[in-house]
Amino acid sequence: MIATVRGARHLSGELKVPGDKSISHRALILGAIADGDSHVRGLSTGADVQSTAGCLRSLGVAIDGSFVGGSGLRGLRRSSAPLDCGNSGTSMRLLAGLLAAQEFESELAGDDSLSRRPMDRVVEPLREMGARAGWPPLRVGGGGRLHGIEYRAPMPSAQVKAAILLAGLYAEGVTAVVEPVKTRDHTELMLAAMGAGVGSDGLRVEVKAAERLEPLDIDVPGDFSAAAFWLVAGGLAGQSNVTLLGVGVNPTRTALAELLASVGFHVGRTRPRLEAHEPVANLQVWPASDLKPIQVDRELAARMIDELPVLAVAATQLPGTSVIAGAGELRVKESDRIAAMADGLTAMGADVVAQDDGWVINGPRSLEGARVDSAGDHRVAMALAVAALMASGKTEIAGAECVDISYPGFFDHLEYLV
Ligand code: S3P
Repeated sequence: MIATVRGARHLSGELKVPGDKSISHRALILGAIADGDSHVRGLSTGADVQSTAGCLRSLGVAIDGSFVGGSGLRGLRRSSAPLDCGNSGTSMRLLAGLLAAQEFESELAGDDSLSRRPMDRVVEPLREMGARAGWPPLRVGGGGRLHGIEYRAPMPSAQVKAAILLAGLYAEGVTAVVEPVKTRDHTELMLAAMGAGVGSDGLRVEVKAAERLEPLDIDVPGDFSAAAFWLVAGGLAGQSNVTLLGVGVNPTRTALAELLASVGFHVGRTRPRLEAHEPVANLQVWPASDLKPIQVDRELAARMIDELPVLAVAATQLPGTSVIAGAGELRVKESDRIAAMADGLTAMGADVVAQDDGWVINGPRSLEGARVDSAGDHRVAMALAVAALMASGKTEIAGAECVDISYPGFFDHLEYLV
């Protein structure tokens, strides 16, 4: 699908972005092994979360709308076919952790993009825990009981942390992960709410073997990483007044909002509350003023990893030289996001130099409509759509259907706001 987006100087309206993708995956997976049925309302409607639901159904789990039939820690059944994780790295890595601890073997498969992504980062620690695990193809489980380890993660990755903690629920003793930078902590919060023996101290998180998990009854907050596109678009528009309802504002996710505020964006929060044991608020954004360039280092990059493509768009409109560094992980996402964003923004007239681990961007530059490519990557497609709103004329985004991975309805929301 080719999406056509025209420049717009005025954005306004109130909308609700889809349910948080990270929390949705975790709620389905943990709900499946809870003692009893869970009710998870507002799950992400994206294809990635459907992939996790499909895999769990193949393992014998009943999932229907907000209903997740929990059959306990030992209730999963062997799937007769490889589990199809589609485009979803989160499905593959988190399920690898869960399934490594089961008495039966499972094979996890994915599309071309997912098949190229690094899985040794979960296979190695799972093997250290005594699991049978091999890759490629990714096969896990069917070995003996696992044992706890203390794992020093070489890269900041919430998926790796979650995979190890899920395996740790089944392992003898204590399983700990020490991260180089604190990443999103949704697994820890959800496990604590379900009564698991989980604790954290700075960069170290540990979990004890579980006997049972309480079912969930939650409303999934809106996805901050989806809201991020409208925060940038609303801030850069000449006139705007955009309200995003019920967005998750867990501090391990909101670094982009804080960074934008520090360079002149106006982002407000109203109605702060707790949902699904997570902080939630309505976010409001108005046009930015007195803009400054940005600097992102490895620590900041890890805390806004999914927001960096749209941050690169913002940097094209900031005065001076913005440097986004320490983000080499972007090269192994759904696409090589460093290359895909440099290509798209350069075609639109931006001054962007790709580095091994990020971009150097000189601004502000007037963007012009162009023909650009999503590289099959949902966040690239949406970030380029935000750039197109800032550009003169018309931009055509090829491969735009991939927005459905995390944000079905993205282009409807865009039309509504302009
Ligand atoms: C996620 C973790 C991040 C993020 C992804 C979702 C998660 O990946 O990019 O969209 O839900 O744990 P990494 O762990 O590979 O950084």
